[in-house]
Formats: sequence, C-alpha cells, structure tokens
Amino acid sequence: MSAEIIDGKAFAAQLRERIAAHVADFVAEAGRKPGLAVILVGDDPASQVYVGSKGKATIAAGMESFQHVLPSSTSQADLIALVEQLNNDDAVDGILVQLPLPDGLDEAATVAAIDPAKDVDGLTDANVARLANNEDGLVPCTPLGCMMLLHDRIGDLTGLDAVVVGRSQLVGRPMAQLLVNANCTVTVAHSRTRNLPDIVRNADIVVAAVGRAEMVKGDWLKRDTVVIDVGINRMPPTEEGKKGKLVGDVAFAEAEHVKAITPVPGGVGPMTIAVLLRNTLVAARARAGLARVDGL
Ligand code: GUN
Repeated sequence: MSAEIIDGKAFAAQLRERIAAHVADFVAEAGRKPGLAVILVGDDPASQVYVGSKGKATIAAGMESFQHVLPSSTSQADLIALVEQLNNDDAVDGILVQLPLPDGLDEAATVAAIDPAKDVDGLTDANVARLANNEDGLVPCTPLGCMMLLHDRIGDLTGLDAVVVGRSQLVGRPMAQLLVNANCTVTVAHSRTRNLPDIVRNADIVVAAVGRAEMVKGDWLKRDTVVIDVGINRMPPTEEGKKGKLVGDVAFAEAEHVKAITPVPGGVGPMTIAVLLRNTLVAARARAGLARVDGL
C-alpha cells in the first residue's frame, strides 16, 4: 500500500478562496477592509521571502497589507513604539512580528507588547492561556493549519494517540494543546526524550516539528499512522550554483507504508499563510463586533 499524499497546497488554495469570499462580506458589513501589519527587522533572506509572500497573499484575499521593514540596528524601544502605534491604529486588525528577531532584540518583550486582540500569531500570554483553557482565542497559524489537515483526513480525532516531536512556542506546544483539546492522548517529545523511535512507533498521528532534516525514520512509523511534517530544511547543494533540495523532518522516501503524509514542500507550508489570513479575518470580525463565521 502506498501512502496518501496530503495536498496542503490545494487545501490552502481552497481555504484562501473561502476567506476571500468572507472578506468581501466583511467589507460590506464593516465598510473597510481587514488589515494585517507585518514587521520585519533585519535582512534575513528567508524572512524577507516569507514576509513578501504574506503581503501578496493578504492583498490577493482582498485585505489591506501594511509592511514595516526596519534595520537590524533598530532599538527595542523603537520596535515596541511601532507595535504600540499599530495597536492604536484602527485600520490594523492583525500584527505579526516576523521571528526570529536579530540578536539584541527581546522577542518575549516585543510579543508581550502586542494587543492580544490583534495577535494573529497567537503568541501573547492571553492567547496562550485561552488555548490551554480550551477557550476561543487566536491560535498560532502553523499548528492550526496542521489541525485542519488532520480533521480533513481523519474526521474526529477522539481517543487517538498523537506524538508531537518538538516543543517550540510557535509549533510544538500549541500543537500539543490543540490535540489535547481534540481529545487525543498526546506525547510531546523533544531533544532530551529517551527512546524516541519507540514512542513514535505508538502513534496514530505524528507531527514532526524539530527542524532537523529527515530525522524521523520510516521504521519509526507504523502502518496506519497519519504523518504531518512541519519541517522545511534545505539540504546541501549537489551541484555547484544550484540550491539544495528542500526536505522535511521525516524521511519521506521511507514512509510509503503509512496511511497518509504531508509532502515538503506543498504540505504544511502553504497552510501557514492561509491560516494567517483566516486569523486576520477572525480578529477583524471580533474587533468590529461581528459574529464569528462557522467553518473557517
Ligand atoms: N517565523 C517563521 N514562522 C513564523 C510564524 O508563523 N510567525 C512569526 N511571527 N514568525 C515566523
């Protein structure tokens, strides 16, 4: 049996279409477009690409995009002052500070300055607590995108054994909370975990989010597992002048026996931006006093 490939790119495209239709409704009801502000500090090339794609997708969905690109010499006080200015700007519904920040800037203090109502990354203490308490709030984009793919593939997740490999604030931790809230039995594995292969072998659902190329091997995965690969790792180039190939945290070529798996690229990656647009719409509706929309 060969694994079903979960097409995150197609799923994300459909989600973006549905969001664009809801954005048109919002404009009719609120008399303005939802607005997303993205702050990029420094000149990291990968971050520049992400931020550029976020801006394009925001405009394509019918929203307003505000991009603030600051030099890496920006002071903490100036960065916080910009966040506060965006907190007070009525045209801005979502604020995303692209991470990681350059050395010398304090990520925790910067995130803490974001108004939780505009925290489309779901990283503020208020939104982390809401997720832990299984209350409505803004949830980090990548894990929420993974949940959408899991629900689409499996339906109800109640009672399933899930293993999350990785414990980052942006992915591993919120992913584990979402799975618990969906009634899974969840194990969070990380760099200090003993017997990782045996733990992964138990899982009905594996979410790999460690950022280590092809670390999860095929013989760690049982036959009926659904595998969500969050990793995007660039391999060394095999030819001079060419970029190395992109691979996930799972050895994809060894995983043809599993039930379903997300590819890299084209799996989880496209979901992150689509969910960012979704979160911006959710924030905009809440700020405008409009009801939540179902099924987004
Ligand atoms: N850097 C890589 N992914 C993300 C993300 O989802 N949000 C932010 N703020 N920074 C990132």
